[in-house]
Amino acid sequence: MTAQIKFYYKNVFADVLGPEHGISKPQFENLANHVGPFIKHLNQMRPKLPYRDLPFKSEITARVKQVGDSIKGNCENFVVLGIGGSALGNIALQTALNPYMYNLDDSARKTPRLFVFDNVDPAQLKSFLQWVEPRLEKTVFNVISKSGQTAETAAQLQVITELITRKLGADALKKHIIAITDPKEGTMRKIADSQGLTTLEVPPGVGGRWSVLSAVGLLSAYVCGIDIDALLAGARDMDKRVSDENFHKNPAAINAAINWHFYNRGKHISVLMPYCYALKDLSDWFRQLWAESLGKAVNLKGEQVNVGPTPVKALGTTDQHSQVQLYREGPNDKIFTFLQVNDFGNADITIGPAPGIAPELGYLAGAKMSKLLNSEKIATEYALAASKRPSMTVYFDKVDAYAVGQFICFYEASTSIAGLLFEIDAYDQPAVELGKLATFALMGKTGHEKLANEIKPFLKPDGNYLL
Ligand code: PA5
Repeated sequence: MTAQIKFYYKNVFADVLGPEHGISKPQFENLANHVGPFIKHLNQMRPKLPYRDLPFKSEITARVKQVGDSIKGNCENFVVLGIGGSALGNIALQTALNPYMYNLDDSARKTPRLFVFDNVDPAQLKSFLQWVEPRLEKTVFNVISKSGQTAETAAQLQVITELITRKLGADALKKHIIAITDPKEGTMRKIADSQGLTTLEVPPGVGGRWSVLSAVGLLSAYVCGIDIDALLAGARDMDKRVSDENFHKNPAAINAAINWHFYNRGKHISVLMPYCYALKDLSDWFRQLWAESLGKAVNLKGEQVNVGPTPVKALGTTDQHSQVQLYREGPNDKIFTFLQVNDFGNADITIGPAPGIAPELGYLAGAKMSKLLNSEKIATEYALAASKRPSMTVYFDKVDAYAVGQFICFYEASTSIAGLLFEIDAYDQPAVELGKLATFALMGKTGHEKLANEIKPFLKPDGNYLL
């Protein structure tokens, strides 16, 4: 439990990419001088950013374990109901740290199956409900909503509550639903308290996308056998590295600085491309963190700026056969971050012999599949550099909870520093509100009549434009 993830950034420099698209050494030193003070500033802001202290909160871990242990033995299916910051971290931890066949392989799995519903697609949920209904006795639902006002999560909860009440009786709600919500306020707190549900907290001052290392992300991880102590230890160790006020030693500061620098040179798209299936859902988590935190209309002075790098997820090698044509020959408006795993351990595979009829495939025979995967990553990195496209790499020695905890802390701090560089508030998400309110209006919620009127032209497609 000691391997540090490593951040590699040589392939952003003019030595590799040429002066038009690369960063020269003097430019980098200017960046260091500009960004360095923001590290100190972020450290000073720490009391106002409670997300940064989550890995140190032993009382949260203790409560998560207490609640998690209380359902052990009688839970075969653990079902998270939530959306955005109340789901993406849970999904990312599960994909990263449990085997690909986790939910299906009943003989290998020692802990409950995990399902996360972060949508209100009726066909998807109906299919699940039909499967889970006969298994309800051994199913626990974990509803996660800071506000309780989120239409998707509220609707899911109402469906589940009706199902449990109908099948098992109203008294069973306490046994089958655990809520994670605000400690004192909000609709979900009201519901949970009135039904006597077991609750854990979304810590005050921690927004959804910053909450994965609170009970929000930890409970489902713990219940499903993930080593949350190692996860938090990784985050704590990275916290030291990203607090280092020496710019040249601080991976988050360099990452934020490079992204900001290239944004200002017209590279507005930031692609995160893991070469590892287990890390693929960390890209979804990153997408939300980067997009909601950095995409803002106004800066801290209230001036209209409309800034924000667009985060894109890609998966190596899959997207080499889908996106790389564009990435190399399309507009040079992107910066790439690869995730590479050095050691797949026991999970590695040796490729079998080539068919006698196809000796041209002999080069694959006997090679480790991880060698092919990582060779393709290096090939893509090289090919992008040949097209003068900047890239960085985060190396994982192996994928374990300690490394994933480091990665989460690394990207959270990178986002906070990028927020300071863009001079915006990285912790609000005002633009999400209008869509939420419009949904209320369309669904007939009282108090939203004026908005419902404004939306009318959108209710039905205009026939003049419909072919
Ligand atoms: O990051 C955020 O704040 C959002 O993605 C929220 O997590 C999401 O909208 C869900 O909100 P709530 O937890 O209130 O249901």
